[in-house]
Amino acid sequence: MRQNYINIMDGLEREKYNSHKKLKEKKMKALVYHGPGKRSWEEMPNPKLKNVGDVIVKITKTTICGTDLHIMKGDVPEVTNGRILGHEGTGIITELGMGVSNFKIGDKVLISCITSCGICESCKKGMTSHCEDGGWILGHTIDGTQAEYVRVPHADTSLYHIPEGVDEEALVMLSDILPTGYECGVLNGKIGPGDTVAIIGAGPIGLATLLTAQFYAPAKIIMVDTDENRLETAHMLGATNMIKNNPIEAINKLTNNQGVDVAIEAVGIPATFDICQSIIKPGGHIANIGVHGKSVNLHLEKLWSSNITITTRLVDTTTTPMLLKTVQSGKLQPKKLITHRFQLSEIMKAYDTFGNAAKEKALKVILFNQ
Ligand SMILES: NC(=O)c1ccc[n+]([C@@H]2O[C@H](COP(=O)([O-])OP(=O)(O)OC[C@H]3O[C@@H](n4cnc5c(N)ncnc54)[C@H](O)[C@@H]3O)[C@@H](O)[C@H]2O)c1
Ligand SMILES: [Zn+2]
Ligand SMILES: [Zn+2]
Repeated sequence: MRQNYINIMDGLEREKYNSHKKLKEKKMKALVYHGPGKRSWEEMPNPKLKNVGDVIVKITKTTICGTDLHIMKGDVPEVTNGRILGHEGTGIITELGMGVSNFKIGDKVLISCITSCGICESCKKGMTSHCEDGGWILGHTIDGTQAEYVRVPHADTSLYHIPEGVDEEALVMLSDILPTGYECGVLNGKIGPGDTVAIIGAGPIGLATLLTAQFYAPAKIIMVDTDENRLETAHMLGATNMIKNNPIEAINKLTNNQGVDVAIEAVGIPATFDICQSIIKPGGHIANIGVHGKSVNLHLEKLWSSNITITTRLVDTTTTPMLLKTVQSGKLQPKKLITHRFQLSEIMKAYDTFGNAAKEKALKVILFNQ
């Protein structure tokens, strides 16, 4: 049947068909993980539509996350040899599954680190991070965004239209770090006006928490980090106090031994969770954001009577539409977190820069594909 169809095509149609076929078989370049410590920028087949809800997006901008560095160290064993990394970025839709209704070819889109089907029990609860057919899958269990093209499943419920006139670089910060800081840190920590807040870790996540904490007018935001350059950035972004050494003593002194209303852990190691436990005020909230590879000691012998809450969360990105409006209006200026820019084809160099963040004074690197 298909053969007959081809036979009756006139010359022009045949030419169109062949060039379309060639396009489909085209190869692209992508950053591919080959086991701990091994990555390469190599040729891969262009992604193809698999399900009716899928789209193919041509990446225009992407970035590298601290979590990609965890993957490179071998800390995330579900990521297997041959996987294209990346779960952040913006792009243009080039192919559309039959079931996609909210987008069309040529639309500019923001990709979320969380894919959500919109109809499973978790999605209906707003806990899209635990979607039964999604969650964090891009650059994790399916190929990701550090490539010229990416397949995005459940496009209708996972992508966002980029409004006219909004800076795309700033929006890349909305794929992961801003919703993470806001949902896991600020919302879970229940930051309120006049609060004293401590954020342990001034990496991209800690700084995104610092930016979004200011929606709620806390009186003090104390940033703790061992990297002086990051503390300087924190100061520029609105932190009231920056602490490099002996954070527990310094925070006790600063708060007249009262402690803080909200302590946010944005590193992911036992030492920084311990700081949170030592500085929390009765009735306070400890909001954990960090990905932990080791168990921590929970000091219930001290905390059992303190009326505190401890929360954990994997980002859901359900606040992305709200955050997008704050970026659009200029209330939130996440572009300040971008320190380096590279062509997508220079991504190997970009990984080296981001991997030596302290030496290179790197926060977020933007990779652009033109
Ligand atoms: N819960 C989620 O959904 C989610 C999402 C994204 C990222 N994360 C996690 O959030 C954490 C932070 O991410 P990031 O990209 O900002 O990481 P990052 O590594 O860039 O930043 C961590 C910061 O902690 C500082 N630090 C290290 N040891 C310290 C110590 N003992 N005391 C004080 N500061 C110390 C480092 O100097 C660095 O600036 C990571 O664990 C990441 O995996 C969680
Ligand atoms: Zn990430
Ligand atoms: Zn779902």
